[in-house]
Amino acid sequence: MSLSPVVSLSVPELGLPPGFVWGTSTSSYQIEGAANEDGRAPSVWDTLCNMKDAVANGDTGDVACDHYHRYAEDIRIMADLGIQAYRFSIAWPRILPRGRGVAHERGLDFYDRLIDGLLAAGIEPCACLYHWDLPQALQNLGGWVNRDSVGWFADYALLAARRYGDRVKRWATFNEQSVSTLFGFAWGVSPPRSTDRAAYFSAVHHQNLAHGAAIDVLRTAVPNALLGVVHNRQIVYPQRHDSAHQAAVDPMDAHWNNIFPDPQILGFYPEAVVDAIEPFLRAGDLSRICRPLDWFGLNHYGPLWARVDPACALGFQMGAAPDAMRHSDIGWAVEPEAFKLELLRTYRRYKLPIYVTENGCGSDKEIADETGFVDDRHRIAFLQDYLAAMAEAVAEGADVRGYYVWSLLDNFEWGAGYAHRFGIVRVDFTSQKRTPKASAQWYADVIKAHRGE
Ligand code: GCO
Repeated sequence: MSLSPVVSLSVPELGLPPGFVWGTSTSSYQIEGAANEDGRAPSVWDTLCNMKDAVANGDTGDVACDHYHRYAEDIRIMADLGIQAYRFSIAWPRILPRGRGVAHERGLDFYDRLIDGLLAAGIEPCACLYHWDLPQALQNLGGWVNRDSVGWFADYALLAARRYGDRVKRWATFNEQSVSTLFGFAWGVSPPRSTDRAAYFSAVHHQNLAHGAAIDVLRTAVPNALLGVVHNRQIVYPQRHDSAHQAAVDPMDAHWNNIFPDPQILGFYPEAVVDAIEPFLRAGDLSRICRPLDWFGLNHYGPLWARVDPACALGFQMGAAPDAMRHSDIGWAVEPEAFKLELLRTYRRYKLPIYVTENGCGSDKEIADETGFVDDRHRIAFLQDYLAAMAEAVAEGADVRGYYVWSLLDNFEWGAGYAHRFGIVRVDFTSQKRTPKASAQWYADVIKAHRGE
């Protein structure tokens, strides 16, 4: 049961730095649809969605928000809200159906239309190369467990850089590598549903190598590139206050928060994983991974709890937030103070300008009126508190330069399907009608009040 604090719809005075950017984020598999159109081939998520009981209600990304056809309307909505930047991801299997080799022109054309539309609307495109939709054709060759994946990804990055680099300057290589590798290779929930420890560590290392290779490609091929990577980082607490759970905190912190950004930015793996990752390293690998970056994308929702699980490949699982805490409708912990602390911790550890590339509030209880409007005051309360926490972190020295709310649209929320809605714009998945929620108008007011501070 979520606590619904009394919500003032006031726009907070945040005191953010000049040039602060207000944006929104989405991802290809979660919104595009057109899964079998214009040459797109299956990704590992298309495959997963066809597995029994893999996704709530048997939902798939086959249609999603039909953004492939409705992108122009979605751009207009962003422009009407005054949104200045848009992080989207490119669907690898849409532009390279076999994952490598011959590119597909109609797939490439879609992102041309999207990028040109964004630029015409005065919205900065931020392209993320990988938001989890690996081409199934590459999974059939071993996927991220195969070290050849480093070359596959670099070639894909080069194709995208050469096609869009004249118009897209801000690039992210990956979105949330730790989340997708933990859920996919350690906990067996996401593709490829592995729970094999060796597969997990090899996938981690190869994704780190792929990040470094793509940065080299982008740095060479994109003039004036602004290169970054997007990581989900959240403070970890013990599920119980016993020694076993206390002992699980550092490993979970290493795997969830540090196993990717540490080698990518600091040049070394966290101490807790060095012995386990060692067998997959070759001479020179760490220098291949650690390449200069221009910005750090931070995704944050709330703290994590480490739950001991000896049966799990890594010895821990995600625990549940204590009942006494403030929760969102879908049971995620809501703790703005943890966001402030994570912003400060991330900035002090990596010393890169931060863009908050995801932050938002999910609900499975939203009711639309007859026009499709949702008075989502719970989401406004969440955003008010998290933006205030972000402003406090800035005041205490965190170099935060932008905030991209997750998400523009209600969309395919992975294992939860369409039941968990994160959008500031409601999507009626039958009619595909878009209806800005109360939070969209509130966010537009925030942007207006703070634009280019
Ligand atoms: C993630 C992904 C997004 C999610 C969002 C809400 O963090 O899992 O980046 O695709 O939809 O975070 O869970």
